[in-house]
Amino acid sequence: MSKHSVQPLLVSAPAGAGLPQYYQGPPTYQTIAVPIEVHPVRYRRSPLRRFLVAFFVTIGIWVTLKTLLVHHIRHGHEDWDWYIPSDMVLEQCVSGSAWGTSAAALTGDFSAGASFEIPLSVDTVLLLSSYRKSSFFSTHSMSGTLDVTTSDQFSDSAKVIIHSFDGMRTDGNIRVCLMTGTDGKIGVGIFRKGSWWDTRSATFMKITLVLPATAALPQVEGLEVDLPNFSINVGNLKDTVDFKSVSLKTTNAAVKVDSFSAARVLLQTSNARIDADSLVSADLTLKTSNAPITGTFNTSDSLHITTSNSPINVAVGLESNNKAKPTVLIMRTSNNRLDAKVTLSTKAHMGGRYSVLGRTSNGPLAISIPGSPVESELHLNALTSNAAAEVKLHNTYQGAFGVSTSSQWSARVTRLDQSDDDSRHLHFDSNRKGEVGGSIFAKEGNKGLGEVRVRTSNAQAVLFV
Ligand SMILES: *[C@@H]1O[C@H](CO)[C@@H](O)[C@H](O)[C@H]1NC(C)=O
Ligand SMILES: *[C@@H]1O[C@H](CO)[C@@H](O)[C@H](O)[C@H]1NC(C)=O
Repeated sequence: MSKHSVQPLLVSAPAGAGLPQYYQGPPTYQTIAVPIEVHPVRYRRSPLRRFLVAFFVTIGIWVTLKTLLVHHIRHGHEDWDWYIPSDMVLEQCVSGSAWGTSAAALTGDFSAGASFEIPLSVDTVLLLSSYRKSSFFSTHSMSGTLDVTTSDQFSDSAKVIIHSFDGMRTDGNIRVCLMTGTDGKIGVGIFRKGSWWDTRSATFMKITLVLPATAALPQVEGLEVDLPNFSINVGNLKDTVDFKSVSLKTTNAAVKVDSFSAARVLLQTSNARIDADSLVSADLTLKTSNAPITGTFNTSDSLHITTSNSPINVAVGLESNNKAKPTVLIMRTSNNRLDAKVTLSTKAHMGGRYSVLGRTSNGPLAISIPGSPVESELHLNALTSNAAAEVKLHNTYQGAFGVSTSSQWSARVTRLDQSDDDSRHLHFDSNRKGEVGGSIFAKEGNKGLGEVRVRTSNAQAVLFV
């Protein structure tokens, strides 16, 4: 993964790298000081004259610099103004008036547009990133939306369509380029830089990535999106390119997925929610902060769900087909509730190894296991504080359990099926206020097959077996 990962936006430019030479030091004051000290005779000039001299010297320096700069740009050395990732080569750029020209055809007055065709092959890693040159005076801020959709046209190329909504004002500070790199990397980069005359500019962009319908194209290596401040909407990608690895990163904006699958998936944002109707991946990571994570997820290897100060509400399918290592689900939040329905399955119809961790604080926790193969091995840890904790196991569960809370609260283990159909033996090792331990098993040998721990404080803890 890291091999293909896009350079993070903020780390990319070394501190101070954005400063053109002539920004160094405070040139105006130093230059003015020289004539005054070298010619003490003129020391008695009136303050007004001294001021005027300083003023015109300053203007002079400014004009000279400006002329030099214009000369510089006219001679095509403007790349020095932009941050360009070192492993990428820019192929074709749209900026300035070109960006505006294609505009009119596409939409209304204040929108400018560009579009790019990107050929796909087996080893393609399709990139969509924004890069920023840090500037001494201003940071041009950018936000927008990315929609990932499918076309019903058969083809072996993807299309990226970009609209910019900021009038023509900041066009010179943004350009969009087709870029290629090593290891099959190809994609569209949005480059922006700050300017010293426009310190509050902001651009809103609407980007659409259209993936082709494919009958023939086999699995494509990867899709990597790194667009801070862009909300990301992924449509139903069932009948389109099958990416081996998908990484969608943003900040401060939501990520929403209708449905797709890939061997490896990373969805990452901050301060905004992650939502998926159906996401299937062997190796799946969902990460945000201060916002909920909701949806239906299936995995056969590992699923990590991380947020903070917000609820997690998920339905998860865990499939275990590897005897050597368990299928792992890790859910973490804080100061809010955690609700999860976790269905365990295996292709073998029996057995399977699963490891589940659910952790929050100051909020209720409820995890249920509505389905599980017989003879499966489940390790489950459910932890919260100052709120109720409840875990409902499936009636195939065999193994040890421990339920605990503060000593003045109740910790309970209750059988869901009170009839004689459940042939498992329920055995308690300890059963006192605030703490219950024991095991449940159909065969003596399975007493320690799985292990379930439920823990909270200052509220009740309940385990249904
Ligand atoms: C994201 O948006 C915020 C608010 O508009 C802005 O301050 C910030 O600079 C933006 N970040 C980037 C990376 O553009
Ligand atoms: C995903 O898991 C659910 C259980 O939560 C299951 O019903 C469904 O068939 C699974 N879907 C896929 C595509 O594996």
